[in-house]
Formats: sequence, C-alpha cells, structure tokens
Amino acid sequence: MKDIQISIREDLKQKPDQDHLEFGQHFTDHMFLFDYNSEQGWHDPRIVPYGPIVLEPAAMVLHYGQAVFEGMKAFNTNNGNVLLFRPQKNMERLNQSNRRLEIPEIDEEFILHAIQTLINVDKEWIPSGKGTSLYIRPFIIATEPCLGVRAAHNYQLLVILSPVGAYYSEGLEPVKINVESSYSRAVRGGLGTAKAAGNYAASIKAQTEAKEAGYSQVLWLDALERKYVEEVGSMNIFFKINGTVITPELNGSILAGVTRDSIIELLTNWGITVEERRISMDEIYQAHKDHTLEEVFGTGTAAVISPVGELFWDDRQIIINDGCIGELSQQLYDTITGIQTGMVPDTLQWTVQ
Ligand code: COI
Repeated sequence: MKDIQISIREDLKQKPDQDHLEFGQHFTDHMFLFDYNSEQGWHDPRIVPYGPIVLEPAAMVLHYGQAVFEGMKAFNTNNGNVLLFRPQKNMERLNQSNRRLEIPEIDEEFILHAIQTLINVDKEWIPSGKGTSLYIRPFIIATEPCLGVRAAHNYQLLVILSPVGAYYSEGLEPVKINVESSYSRAVRGGLGTAKAAGNYAASIKAQTEAKEAGYSQVLWLDALERKYVEEVGSMNIFFKINGTVITPELNGSILAGVTRDSIIELLTNWGITVEERRISMDEIYQAHKDHTLEEVFGTGTAAVISPVGELFWDDRQIIINDGCIGELSQQLYDTITGIQTGMVPDTLQWTVQ
C-alpha cells in the first residue's frame, strides 16, 4: 500500500459545543488529499491541515460539475473503540459513481485505509453525545483547467470530517414533506443512481420552495409521469401499509442508499415483509383514506431514520400516525444507532474498527 504523508498542524482548532452540533457546520483539524493525472494515476496521498485548496478558475469541476461524493459516519463506542458502518459499501458506490461520471476508479481498500488514518489523526473530534457522530465526506473533483466538455485528465480526491448531530433540526420528531409535482430530480439513464454533486444542485430550487411553504424536504416523483415515488432530497423512503413495508425499487434513477439496504435486511430478518417495487402517490393516498398507511420514514447516512409525519400532495394533506413517530421507525432507529455505537450486538457484522 502507498505511504500516506502526514503533516500535523500546530495551531489546533477549538472544538464546537457537542450539545449543539448542527449538521455540516464544523470541520476537523486535518483533511486527506490524493491527486490524479494520466501519467502517474492516483498519487501523493497526504494528510494536511484542513484549509482552502487552490484551484484554477478553469478547473473543469467549476464549469461542468464533474464531481462525486460519499457520506459515511464514525462513532465512538462506550469502550473507547471507533466504529465505521459498512464503509466498504460506500467505497463500492464511490467507484460506481466514478464509472458513471468518467472519473478514474480508486483503490477501495486504500481509500478506506486513508479514511481510517485521517480519523485516527482527528479522533479527538469524534463526538460522544446521543445522536452525534463524525460525518465523513470523501469527494472527487475534476481539477484540469480546460473549457472543452470531456472527461478531465486531472482530479483530486479529498476527505473532510465534520462532527455532527441530527441532520434535521427536528431530530427524531417527524418531518413534514412536500411531494414535488413540478420539478424532477433524475431520469432513468441520467445521474440519479450516482452520488453526483449535480443531483443535489438540481434539487435546491424545489427544496427552497418547500422550506418557504413550511416543509423540511421534498419527495421526488418519477420524471415521466410524476406518479411514482422515487426518493426524498437526502434520503430513501419507506411506507408501512397494512403491516407490509414498501420502498421504491432501484429503477435506474434512485440512489442505492447504504442505510436503505441495511433497513431492508433488518426488516427481512425480523420477519417483516418488504416489497421493493413501484409505488404511486395514488396508492399511498388510498392507503391513507383506508387508514392502512401506518408509518412513513426516510433512511440515509446523514438522516439515519427520519419519521415522516405529513406528506403534502396536490393540495392534499396526508397526516401519518397522527404526526407521531411510529413504533417500527423507533425500533429501526434504536437498532441501527445501537449497532453503530456498539450498544446492540452487531450480528450482521456491519461495523468495522
Ligand atoms: C448522506 O446521507 O450522507 C447524504 O449524502 C445526504 C447529504 C446530501 C446530506
């Protein structure tokens, strides 16, 4: 394995108050950098003080958005270990995104090793309070200065770390979600399955409008018919209808979430029927009218499990479980966070030290 050069900063930063950690506002003392060019491939892995990077104004990422990223978390356990949750899955997905955006693939094992080395350097930054973690953001950008539209020849991979609390200010309180009927997030054959920066840029306008109307996020529908449910801005989505849990199938425009996959496996192990299939808003509305729509929750690395208390669709208000957290959502949240923090036996061997 390549050696990672480590330069430790002398002026360590002040750490934020662990009791009031907003998502993604604070960054640790160090970051990991790794460069790519056509002659040397990926080279010069290094950990350096966190700080601004130098980019040419013509860097291709600034013009054409050739950029991918991942989201992962590290947790402190009661017995002093640091655990990562299914990190190999994120490395695999980073390469899937790379392939879709014509970015050179990475050595998954080496990048995971680099992430672990960086976390070890900044381990004092891992918060310990309930619901807190160290969010890990690996990302790759096209750095070559060129205005032609093509795959760049130069890239930089960076990893930054951020101590975080709950993603939504509501915490585990159910969120209100607007079902988006005007804008689309992704189409089949587009970038929807990749964790591409541009997908999130495409979501911002609808997100802003939803916020102004009092909703935390938007629920995206399929771009063709605006009929079938896809995903929420930063989460996959699940519906419990009459005892069965349904989540949209990975149809070519939905992100394959690591938490999504974990929830399906947990539920299946618990003997609960899970269906991965198309689900329309009509079906959800009908279930609501029939009183069989029992729970709705989102899943994601940042959000973990986020219960949904209301969906607003076409002037129709769908209140779920009286706006309260459902039993299954709570059980899933407790189990996932318990496994992540070493409090619940990790029988599925999802955590890595
Ligand atoms: C994550 O859950 O890690 C995500 O990537 C969502 C994010 C855009 C905050």
